[in-house]
Amino acid sequence: MAPMLSMTENNKTCAEIHLGNLLENLRAIQQHVAPAKVIPVVKADAYGHGAVPVAKTVAQNGFDLLAVAQFKEAMELRDSGVAHPILIFGRLLPHEIPVAVSAGFRISLFCTEDIDWIEKASLTQPAVVHVNLETGMGRVGVVIENDPGFFPRLLASDTCVWEGLYSHFSTADEMDKTYADLQLSRFKRFLTDIKTWPKKPALIHMANSGGILDIPESHFDAVRSGIIIYGHYPSVETSRPMPLKQVMTFKTYVSHVRLLPQGYPISYGRRWVTSEATRIAVIPVGYADGIPRAMTNKGEVLIKGARYPMVGTVTMDQTMIHIGDAPMERGDEVLLWGESASGSLELLELAEKINTIPYELTCGVSARVQRVYIGQS
Ligand SMILES: Cc1ncc(COP(=O)(O)O)c(C=O)c1O
Repeated sequence: MAPMLSMTENNKTCAEIHLGNLLENLRAIQQHVAPAKVIPVVKADAYGHGAVPVAKTVAQNGFDLLAVAQFKEAMELRDSGVAHPILIFGRLLPHEIPVAVSAGFRISLFCTEDIDWIEKASLTQPAVVHVNLETGMGRVGVVIENDPGFFPRLLASDTCVWEGLYSHFSTADEMDKTYADLQLSRFKRFLTDIKTWPKKPALIHMANSGGILDIPESHFDAVRSGIIIYGHYPSVETSRPMPLKQVMTFKTYVSHVRLLPQGYPISYGRRWVTSEATRIAVIPVGYADGIPRAMTNKGEVLIKGARYPMVGTVTMDQTMIHIGDAPMERGDEVLLWGESASGSLELLELAEKINTIPYELTCGVSARVQRVYIGQS
C-alpha cells in the first residue's frame, strides 16, 4: 500500500514549469538567429505557462523586449515588477493609450485612426510605435492601398516615435513555403521602398516560430518567438534545426483502479466497451483541467514509462485509462505530456492525434491546475 505521505505530498495534479528548459530553448534560438534579437512572446499567460514567472526569467537573462497580445497582459507584467519594454500586438483602445505610453509599452499601429487616437491623447511623452504591415496574414496590419495617408501621417507625427516595423506569416509552419515566400517578398519590397524615407524604424521583425526554424531570410533585426521557447515545434511540417525541451510537464496520478467485466461500457455515451474483463484506472482530470474532450478514445498517458490509452468519453473532471494487467495502484504518477524521469510524451504528437496544435493544449491547461515552477525565475 502506498504510504500516507504520498497521499498528500505526491498525489496531485500539476503542471511543472521547467524554467531551465525555457532558457535552454531561448539560448538555442538566439544562437540560431544571431545577430537578430529574440523577442519572447509571453501572451496568453505565456501560452499557459504563467506570464509573470516566464517574463521574469527571460527578462533576467538578457532578453530585453517582450511581447504580449493585450494591454491588460502588459499591465499585469508591469504590476508584477517586469520593467522591460513590452510590445503589445493587439489594438489598444483610446483610453488605454496614455497609460501604455507612460508604462513604456510599444504600441502596434494598424491604421491612420490609431495615429489619430495617439495624437489626441494627452501624453506627457512620445508614443513608441511598431507598425504592423499586412502582407497576407489577413488579420490585422496596415493595408497601404486602403490607407494611403497612413505613412505620410506617421512620418509627420512628432507624437509617434517609429521604432518598429513588422508583419506576420500565416503559413510559415507548413512544408510548402510558397505563400510564406510571397509574404516575405512583399515585406522586402516595402523595405526597399522606405530606404529613402526621412524616418526609418530601427527594428524590423517578421519571423514567428515557423519563420525562425525554416526561413532565415525573415530573421531581420529581431524574431518574435512563441511556441518554440516553450519547447514545441509549431507543426510536424517544419524542420528541427535545434533541439527543444518541453517546458511544461503536465501530470496527475491514478486515483482509483477498478476491475470491470467483459462488455462493460465506459463513461458518457458508452463510447468504449470492455472486450474482456479488464482493469481501468481513473485519473482525476478532465476537460475542465485542459484534457480536451476530443481525446476521447484517442489520448494516451505515460505511467511508469509505458503508454496506456484513454478510453471512453473524457469527462469534466475524470478520465479513464485502460491498463489491463499492468501492475498499478492508486497514487502512481501519470504523465499527461512533457518530460519525466520515466520518459516523455511529446505534446505535438498528442495534438496531431486530435487535429489540433500544441498552442491550444498548453493554453488550455486551466487555472484549476497548479503551476509548480522549477528552476530560475
Ligand atoms: C504577431 C505575432 N507574432 C508572433 C507570434 C508567435 O508565434 P509562434 O508561437 O508561432 O512563434 C504570434 C503568436 O501567435 C503573433 O500573434
